[in-house]
Amino acid sequence: MTKKHNETATGDRVTAQPYFHQRALEIQPYGTVNHALPLELEQPVRLEMTAELNQLLADTITLRDLYKKSHWQVAGPTFYQLHLLYDKHYDEQVELVDSIAERIQLLGGVSLAMAADVAETTQIERPPRGREEIPVQLSRLIEAHRVIVGESRKLARRASELGDDGTNDLVVSEVLRTNELQIWFLSEHLVEVPLVKARETSAKGAA
Ligand SMILES: [Fe+2]
Repeated sequence: MTKKHNETATGDRVTAQPYFHQRALEIQPYGTVNHALPLELEQPVRLEMTAELNQLLADTITLRDLYKKSHWQVAGPTFYQLHLLYDKHYDEQVELVDSIAERIQLLGGVSLAMAADVAETTQIERPPRGREEIPVQLSRLIEAHRVIVGESRKLARRASELGDDGTNDLVVSEVLRTNELQIWFLSEHLVEVPLVKARETSAKGAA
């Protein structure tokens, strides 16, 4: 008699039907670190670093999204240049998000990922859903950068103290340097200088 179904060596039925709607217990809870890769970093160090990196991740994801909001909602005569600048900074923040998240995973931790979890964790002020003027957009972005730069410096020093040179390097070379440069690019837009006609100097006026 021929078999109707293929069977594996263990007797399980082999079928082309996908298994949908599957759920199971987590394989690792958030806030823990798993067994160490051979990184020569003790568990308490990896626990502290992954917690701090998750804060930095939540704030970086929030800043990333604030850039996209600004990119879409910007209005005014400088629409085009800011539309492009915001998207450039967004792309750079996307890279940072991935680097931070993967650093957390390689240290044995669990990266934050979903918007609701990020919203509960971030220290960056929530903007309204509606559109805001350019100076307000710029101020919000700079304020978000300030939060990230502050925590980056603190985290880099702590990583160095604990001997986690990889985290120190990531935070200084990638996160801090990128954020500092983006702060400069944004801040120069908030300097009030004449657009077409130079202001007359008092010396010239007095002559
Ligand atoms: Fe776009």
